[in-house]
Amino acid sequence: MKYRTEIIGVGSFVPANVLTNFDLEKMLDTTDDWIQQRTGIVQRHWVDENTSNSDLAYEASIRAIKNAGIDKSDIDMIIFATLSPDHDFPGNACFLQAKLDLPGISALDIRQQCTGFLYALSIADKFILSGSHKNILIVGSEIHSKGLDKTPNGRNISVLFGDGAGAVIVSRRDLIDPLKDSRVIGTHLYSDGAFAKELWMPAPGTALGKDRVSHQMLDEGLHYAQMNGKTVFVHATKRMTECLLEAVTSANVALGDIDVFLFHQANLRINSKVAEMLSIPEEKVFNTIQNYGNTTAATIPLGMDDAIKAGVLKKGMLVASAAFGSGFTWASAVWRY
Ligand code: ACO
Repeated sequence: MKYRTEIIGVGSFVPANVLTNFDLEKMLDTTDDWIQQRTGIVQRHWVDENTSNSDLAYEASIRAIKNAGIDKSDIDMIIFATLSPDHDFPGNACFLQAKLDLPGISALDIRQQCTGFLYALSIADKFILSGSHKNILIVGSEIHSKGLDKTPNGRNISVLFGDGAGAVIVSRRDLIDPLKDSRVIGTHLYSDGAFAKELWMPAPGTALGKDRVSHQMLDEGLHYAQMNGKTVFVHATKRMTECLLEAVTSANVALGDIDVFLFHQANLRINSKVAEMLSIPEEKVFNTIQNYGNTTAATIPLGMDDAIKAGVLKKGMLVASAAFGSGFTWASAVWRY
């Protein structure tokens, strides 16, 4: 018997504290107009100081487990995508595993930034199809707000990012009808490290001299993300378009067959451009950036949960997803929900 990977439960969580663009005007020398026109963002959620990344992930996970209708003890692996973990090491999958009280199961962190969720989905799919695992919890969770330069110096980056978490349970099922079964149909992963420094956070790091972290690094602001926004924009539209087409073609479906497009949410203009280049009707692209900003690895599962709650994504629909981010990395996936 052949297997398939089915997404059987989705959950998400964002902290209660909302910051509108008008709130940012008071601290960052920016304007609501600039942010909305350039990015489409209206507000984002930022945690309070006592909340950790694994706290958000825990909340999203228990919602996904509940929606999957399984017992948490049925989970045999956690894959955690984040660039803003609780601590430098161990990985956040271990902290989440302890909070969920699931000792002994495998716990894996991956750090593919904005493409983290699609990389995680691809890895989980391979583990499921190999027959080695049955129910995998995939989480994307980020706390950006604690890593942003909240002075006018950081305004080009700090207006873009928000906090949140999304989780899915993928489960092993027997493959009965490849055309009709709910399943991950295909995933495609890419990277080009030649562009690593176009969007990165240099410190802490072991390539910067004798210390992994130093006062000098902090004084120079190397612990804040640095981005060449225009280069990112150009590559993001090109790569997302390419890899989306590849995913759809390999899945043996036409773009017009896709019911919902769940793109990464870095900038509304990037998503509009991708949709325009591929003649995808805007109403088929489910955007959430206006509410959350860019939540990196959390974006796609968070969007999936919102799309389900909004009645836009229903069981049996065909979904195509694409993401682009730091690395550069980019990825795509097609699944029947
Ligand atoms: N508020 C007001 N003015 C600002 C702000 C701000 N928040 N930030 C920058 N400006 C100013 C600049 O100082 C500049 O002023 P000047 O013309 O007087 O010099 C002007 O606005 C234009 O700045 P640019 O950086 O050229 O703005 P651009 O049009 O490129 O838009 C943006 C910036 C929105 C970031 C865009 O480049 C973009 O979206 N790029 C892609 C970003 C992206 O995808 N990031 C996601 C990946 S994140 C990840 O993977 C973790």
